[in-house]
Amino acid sequence: MKALVLSGGSGTRLRPITHTSAKQLVPVANKPVLFYGLESLADAGITEVGMIVGETAAEIEEAVGDGSKFGLDVTYIPQERPLGLAHAVLIARDFLGDDDFVMYLGDNFVVGGIRTLVEEFRASRPDAQILLTRVPDPRAFGVAELDADGQVIGLEEKPEHPKSDLALVGVYLFTPAIHQAVRAIRPSWRGELEITHAIQHLIDDRADVRSTVIRGYWKDTGNVGDMLEVNRTVLEGVQRRLDGDVDEASETVGRVVIEEGARIVGSRIVGPAVIGAGTVVTGSYVGPYTSIAENCRITDSELEFSIVLRDSSIAGVGRIESSLIGRHVEVTPAPGVPSAHRLVLGDHSKVQIRS
Ligand code: DAU
Repeated sequence: MKALVLSGGSGTRLRPITHTSAKQLVPVANKPVLFYGLESLADAGITEVGMIVGETAAEIEEAVGDGSKFGLDVTYIPQERPLGLAHAVLIARDFLGDDDFVMYLGDNFVVGGIRTLVEEFRASRPDAQILLTRVPDPRAFGVAELDADGQVIGLEEKPEHPKSDLALVGVYLFTPAIHQAVRAIRPSWRGELEITHAIQHLIDDRADVRSTVIRGYWKDTGNVGDMLEVNRTVLEGVQRRLDGDVDEASETVGRVVIEEGARIVGSRIVGPAVIGAGTVVTGSYVGPYTSIAENCRITDSELEFSIVLRDSSIAGVGRIESSLIGRHVEVTPAPGVPSAHRLVLGDHSKVQIRS
């Protein structure tokens, strides 16, 4: 069994952290979301991975390399433009050959991995197997309609009026039956060859398409609350590891990870929390469910239930909670001047200020 991992797409502006970069590299507990997917493929016993890459190919290849650090053998498959998930299957035909495969969308996160699902699929080999999860607003997803026996009877891509709250998760298991289906479909209204349509084609042909409903699923939808929540879930599972420097005036409590090259000076860190390599925390408190990425400076501040991306500095600002702070951000107190706020905020920023 092989895997097809989709890490293409254009370098879109990633909400809520606006920058031009591969969305598959958004960090969750200081690790790119794509890496969790690759680890779960290796954990399911898969080694041969075809990786679809687009505009951000260089960034993805730099992060993943030949895949050996995950125990995988990665073959890069360039896609000239993001022409759809089924288009990715089409151009991967030579790589996939006549093997069964898992298609994994690189910006999706499935808590607990996919080992059991892959084992079940190997044992029963339906033509295709999809994963579903209940979401509050399914309009941003593919949506499945099931009959009374739980059989999939219809799939719609991003419907305005969803027929259920069951969203398609970006992990699909296929036999070679999918190849004929991706050749049979036409581009959708958004100009993409939709995998949803290809699976619907299988259903219409009376192929055996099964579904499993899972919990613990996340994909970046521009929602800060969701991102903090998935970060929290992952941090729940970390083991205490102090590879960096913690001075005698500091205290670390519980499941705290201090990466090599990080320095904690006169500070209190209460886990679960991770502090990235090269980050210096001085005279500060870092509380539970906080991830601070590499090369940050946290000075005379308090931070809890938050994510700070790399190369940012926060100094002398008191308490920050439930916050998402991008890369190369500087947070400093306003000088003792009239009560006005001076702000430099990126696109789509959301700021709460005491009025
Ligand atoms: O995340 C789950 C959803 O993924 C499903 O519910 C939908 O049914 C499915 O169509 C897909 O929807 P999105 O529109 O959200 O997919 P997105 O454009 O975000 O692409 C998903 C991943 O695949 C992302 O890592 C980029 C990559 N990709 C996407 C396209 C369209 C490619 O590598 N090539 C492509 O042509």
